[in-house]
Amino acid sequence: MAKKIFYIILALFALMQLFQPERNLSSENFKAELANFYEIPDTVETLLNNACYDCHSNNTDYPWFINVQPIGWYMQNKIDRGKNKLNFSNFGELNTKDAIDVLEDIQEAMKKNTMPLASYKWYNKEADLTIEQRDAIAEWALMLSKQISSDSTAALNKDAVLDTLN
Ligand code: HEC
Repeated sequence: MAKKIFYIILALFALMQLFQPERNLSSENFKAELANFYEIPDTVETLLNNACYDCHSNNTDYPWFINVQPIGWYMQNKIDRGKNKLNFSNFGELNTKDAIDVLEDIQEAMKKNTMPLASYKWYNKEADLTIEQRDAIAEWALMLSKQISSDSTAALNKDAVLDTLN
């Protein structure tokens, strides 16, 4: 009996592997990419790259175990939901109000240490940000939101960027 159950579980596990989640991968350069529109210090960009872009951009750097279901499903679900809330790859498309809202959310997430998700920090140690690193992200977000709210055309030569990339 126990043997039978074991084989059934094994078969289910094997079956699960046939259903791979759709990956969030793109090698494109996005013209609405945050850095094309707004000034971002290298240090902050590196932090976002190490700790946020896997779930908040159009390109995820996947670990090998994305191939193992149901772990991959769980992970892809987080990525899809995260990207739905905030996508740095099309940040330039946000209107003034939405951009400011998102920047406020980022500050709050950094203060409360709710991002990146705890489960992500288990396997990506670089994403386990120190308080100084979180402060750096929050300060940049505050500065940028002030800049955008005082001048809605603050976007770094927005038109020029769009012209060259179109
Ligand atoms: C492993 C995936 C993952 C990583 C990495 C990640 N996030 Fe998120 N993020 C999510 C998910 C999922 C949500 C949506 C939460 C929800 O729907 O409740 C989210 C939501 C957000 C939101 C919207 C407001 C909120 O708190 O729900 C902000 C802002 C945010 N993330 C910022 C960041 C920043 C900044 C980083 C990097 C320091 C980061 N995230 C890293 C998955 C991630």
